[in-house]
Amino acid sequence: MHNGKARAFTNIALIKYWGKKDQQLILPMNNSLSLTLDAFYTETSVSFSKKYTADSFYLDGQLQDEKSTEKVRRFLDLVREQSQFFEYAIVQSQNFVPTAAGLASSASGLAALAGACNDALGLNLSDKELSRLARKGSGSACRSIYGGFVEWEKGDSDQNSYALPVPSNHWEDELAMIFILINDKAKDISSRNGMQRTVATSTYYTDWVKNVDIDIKKAREAITTHDFQALGEVTESNCLKMHATTLAASPPFTYWTPNSLKAMNKVHTMRQAGQDCYFTMDAGPNVKVLCQKKDSQKIYHELQKEFPAEQLVMAYAGKGMETLETEV
Ligand code: PMV
Repeated sequence: MHNGKARAFTNIALIKYWGKKDQQLILPMNNSLSLTLDAFYTETSVSFSKKYTADSFYLDGQLQDEKSTEKVRRFLDLVREQSQFFEYAIVQSQNFVPTAAGLASSASGLAALAGACNDALGLNLSDKELSRLARKGSGSACRSIYGGFVEWEKGDSDQNSYALPVPSNHWEDELAMIFILINDKAKDISSRNGMQRTVATSTYYTDWVKNVDIDIKKAREAITTHDFQALGEVTESNCLKMHATTLAASPPFTYWTPNSLKAMNKVHTMRQAGQDCYFTMDAGPNVKVLCQKKDSQKIYHELQKEFPAEQLVMAYAGKGMETLETEV
């Protein structure tokens, strides 16, 4: 029996990963830059044994069906191939998410699984190698290996596509992100399918790729100089550009719902009233508000005028993936 356990926190991209140039290896079309957060995380333990006759996957104590086990099994196959260790495994994951708002994150999940496998099989992978491995589970997971600001260097092969921390002199500790959980029933298009359709059909996609390098540069510079306004502006504008590509896809689609628009509008109104805050959104209706820690309580209370407390989650910068003691 080979046991391992790890915890990884989720990350939210300030400059988005949107589009793959290789579906199999998960090589992205563009660099992305994220902030790892403390509010949502996954703990995963894995045990490999020759006694097992198949892989099984438990999420929050529940044995998962074939469909959700599939992603985990594909990942275990990669690990088995890389380590030349051919035993089946039991994977047990727990998602620590404040509310059941569909925020279970593939980023924290696959990063924790990569860490747990590394621990169980004694692979001694470096952070860079762990990032490459997690990437092949879910693209954004490669950034959750590290805490704080992280950039995923797109590369052009399995070897050179991985994430690295962005030096910031601990500036991330002065920031906060408030999640506005939108419960509207949105049309469910996974990030995988959304990206695929956008790359294949969106007439705005080439412009997205052209512009994203400029945004990455602006974000890096803002992080180096600790310029919150510059980071907020590029975060919000990059998010809007990503979402614009979906409207120009065929058939067109959007992740925005009426309440997402209400939240974005609220952020604009607060900004006009002098509050330093900016929004970002991913492949779903939730809106995340980037602000400075010193203003975060005030902004939280202002948001509470429009959204009930159950829909708001305050997050601060989180740590990188870490190995945990396994229970024997
Ligand atoms: O890693 P995935 O397949 O869940 O894709 C993530 C895509 C976005 O969340 C929309 C952007 C990003 O960079 O995280």
